[in-house]
Amino acid sequence: MTVPITNMSPAFSIRRASHVSVAVSDLKASVAFYTGVIGLVVSAEGEGVVYLRGVEESAHHSLTLVQKKDQPACQRLGFRVDSDADLDRAFDYFSETGRSPAFVDVAHQGRTLHVADSIGVPLEFCATMPAQHRLHDNFHVQKGAAALRYDHVQLLTPNVAKASEFYTDLGFRISDYFVDGEHDETPLGIFMYRKNNPHDIVFLARPGPVLHHFAYIVADSTYLFRALDTASSLGYASNLERGPARHGEGHALYVYFRDPDGHRVEIMSPPIQMGDAEDVPMRWHRGNRHSWEYPAPKSWLYEASRFEGVEIQGKGTASKLRSLEDFLANRPLNVPE
Ligand SMILES: [Fe+2]
Repeated sequence: MTVPITNMSPAFSIRRASHVSVAVSDLKASVAFYTGVIGLVVSAEGEGVVYLRGVEESAHHSLTLVQKKDQPACQRLGFRVDSDADLDRAFDYFSETGRSPAFVDVAHQGRTLHVADSIGVPLEFCATMPAQHRLHDNFHVQKGAAALRYDHVQLLTPNVAKASEFYTDLGFRISDYFVDGEHDETPLGIFMYRKNNPHDIVFLARPGPVLHHFAYIVADSTYLFRALDTASSLGYASNLERGPARHGEGHALYVYFRDPDGHRVEIMSPPIQMGDAEDVPMRWHRGNRHSWEYPAPKSWLYEASRFEGVEIQGKGTASKLRSLEDFLANRPLNVPE
């Protein structure tokens, strides 16, 4: 078993992972966290809903917070397509592959198509949102990490190669994947992208599907420390879960926070660029990773956000899970190649 092959001529053109909608138990508390610590700005508010974006984003929103009384969960992952014509092509493609797509009305978005992926994750595709003023040079209004832009999502699912096929069929390329030992075949993690960096959607092998985290890019490493200091000042010090440290895949510096409901958000320095023809999938194993970080805490390894109404599978993968846990939690800090 290796990794699926990318279809370089997909039925429609996805531009990037672009937005996420999560349910929260206390809208005011969540908005305070995401604006104060992560540094997002509010684009619009409605009855029980707030739309936020990064300071660099002209997109109306990249994070939608929805007030819910039930257990907070992720509602939907959003992707941009190149044009409305791509939505029609997407509708035909998903209809022909038996996935029951549906056009829906979503506030502050153009035409929007809903569909579930092959493991039941609720997705939406749109080409347009109402353009907003970019605030990246309005330093006087920036707070916390002053997060620039939405970057990627990471999901957990028992069989990452199988789950990835849905996306490689849609033209997602694999930047990185990792196996346990040098001679192992089963991928434990797969990183896929459409835009010009290593990740729009990432799968790790664990029970799922669940949302492990969504991520925003900051200007540079100093903004990670601004976020940490601001979190401390505002009383969110215990919301820090992991980092600061450096990823092997993508080479970005990172910090993970948990929001007031436990949804995990990553902020990271800009990762490497890729997308040229010679950028073939990079295979990682215990012996060739280069990163520095403390071992992942148990919470990072096992806790994640459910998708509303989606059943979690994967109780039968215990041996693979132990392998991944060992890989992520006990690897050496730095291993020369
Ligand atoms: Fe990430």
